[in-house]
Amino acid sequence: LQAKFEYFETINKQAELGGGQERIEKQHAGGKKTARERILELLDPGTFNEIDKLVTHRATDFGMDKNKIPGDGVITGYGKINGRLVYVYAQDFTVFGGSMSRTNADKIVKIQELAVKMGKPLIGLNDSGGARIQEGVQSLAGYADIFYNNVLSSGVIPQISVILGPCAGGAVYSPALTDFIFMVNETSHMFVTGPEVIKTVTHEDVSKEELGGASTHSHKSGVAHFTGENEEQTLMMVRELMSFLPLNNMEEPVELPCTDPIDREEEELNTIVPVDPNKPYDMKDIIYKIVDDEHFFEVQPHYASNIIIGYARFGGRSVGIVANQPASLAGVLDINSSAKAARFVRFCDAFNIPIVTLVDVPGFLPGTQQEFGGIIKHGAKLLYAFAEATVPKITLITRKAYGGAYDVMSSKHIGADVNYAYPTAEIAVMGPEGAINILRRDIKSDEEKAKAVELYRDTFANPYRAASLGYIDEIIYPKDTRKKIISALDMTHNKRKSNLPRKHGNIPL
Ligand code: COA
Repeated sequence: LQAKFEYFETINKQAELGGGQERIEKQHAGGKKTARERILELLDPGTFNEIDKLVTHRATDFGMDKNKIPGDGVITGYGKINGRLVYVYAQDFTVFGGSMSRTNADKIVKIQELAVKMGKPLIGLNDSGGARIQEGVQSLAGYADIFYNNVLSSGVIPQISVILGPCAGGAVYSPALTDFIFMVNETSHMFVTGPEVIKTVTHEDVSKEELGGASTHSHKSGVAHFTGENEEQTLMMVRELMSFLPLNNMEEPVELPCTDPIDREEEELNTIVPVDPNKPYDMKDIIYKIVDDEHFFEVQPHYASNIIIGYARFGGRSVGIVANQPASLAGVLDINSSAKAARFVRFCDAFNIPIVTLVDVPGFLPGTQQEFGGIIKHGAKLLYAFAEATVPKITLITRKAYGGAYDVMSSKHIGADVNYAYPTAEIAVMGPEGAINILRRDIKSDEEKAKAVELYRDTFANPYRAASLGYIDEIIYPKDTRKKIISALDMTHNKRKSNLPRKHGNIPL
């Protein structure tokens, strides 16, 4: 018996050492942790259970039959985050560069299938040199099996990808199919084709950091949703995100005890929206003042900053916030902000998270760049997403709600349940100056024009027309925003609404 236990211990240790001490040190020297260290950091202490620790690859070419490591390049299993079960896999860069073998893929597929069967989130920690070159098409088949499961699990369980090293070529498409991508400054990179291929094909000179670093994907491409300064901080952000989400599409997010008074009034809110309609202000000042404990977990903070998306709690309940940002491009809707918010709205809707929308939007961004880029179809994404969402939808217009953008931003007409406006709201087809320029071409003098603008403002640029038609349910004092939103969330808590059965809709892409 002793000998059997000793053998077990030896092979277990071998698995835990992955590619060996030397490669572990190389990993550490590069500012990166090992796959095992990462999993332990991510999960609650002592909760990790590993699956398939002794699985090895089955390749024989290139002398691979003599080079096997138990576990083979990916660690898979399950554990807990704040006491709630999640499935996890972590690619081990010390074993064949974390490259995807047929067996690695099988291990990941097994975890994916367990996660969806048990209705629990899946978190993938990526750090890999891509397809296992020695295995050829078997490796590609493995990727495709993973992609397929990613798609079938989409909207059923939350899927999260954390990029902690290289992630190139086909490997990017599993993260791309998941709900949220986390990256780490300096040490993680994502691209479909690397700098050398780009140089050969397009003669562009670009570093891997500039091409696919965290900064690029959080500012320019919008591929990444969260960026951490280092691995520890990034993994803590994953834990935080999980706290806002349910475990699957049949559950609601966890309700936390709330010590922030639900009827807290904020006098300061009465003066945040400037009297001058052309003066910007920071919508986040409103968000921080109304949510529980000033805690707002922003998603994609650096991308398309003219729209703000993120999670917060009201009275302990998780909500998704979508808000125009007057401090960036005057809060206009454009291609990037529409697509950014649309995907967020669809995630919230799929996972039973109510949506609170704060509106101050002067319209869509004019210009050939936008029109040629397809603002018509991209703007339609946000309209489609809000309209199809059946979760509770609460909307507050703080100032401008002009034109088609008024309709798009979770208006009553596309199914919002409660629509509030501040007395400073201006709900109209367009701003007073623009309207008078078109309506009163007969006016010549500046004085007369100013009068006409004033008259338009008094008649149309206010919330009273909309309120008299029932398009706005209630005009509220800004200081009461928190308690009003909480009562609306309470009122809509048991909302029962579903759209007609269909195979699936056809969102403009
Ligand atoms: N298949 C098999 N083994 C791979 C691999 C792959 N795709 N990528 C890396 N490895 C192995 C390396 O052979 C090396 O093995 P060793 O430790 O036994 O020498 C180990 O992983 C580490 O790779 P190394 O190149 O030393 O690490 P690095 O940090 O200098 O570079 C990469 C990392 C990812 C940039 C580099 O390995 C690379 O370009 N890999 C190939 C990427 C690719 O084109 N993949 C296929 C397209 S999907």
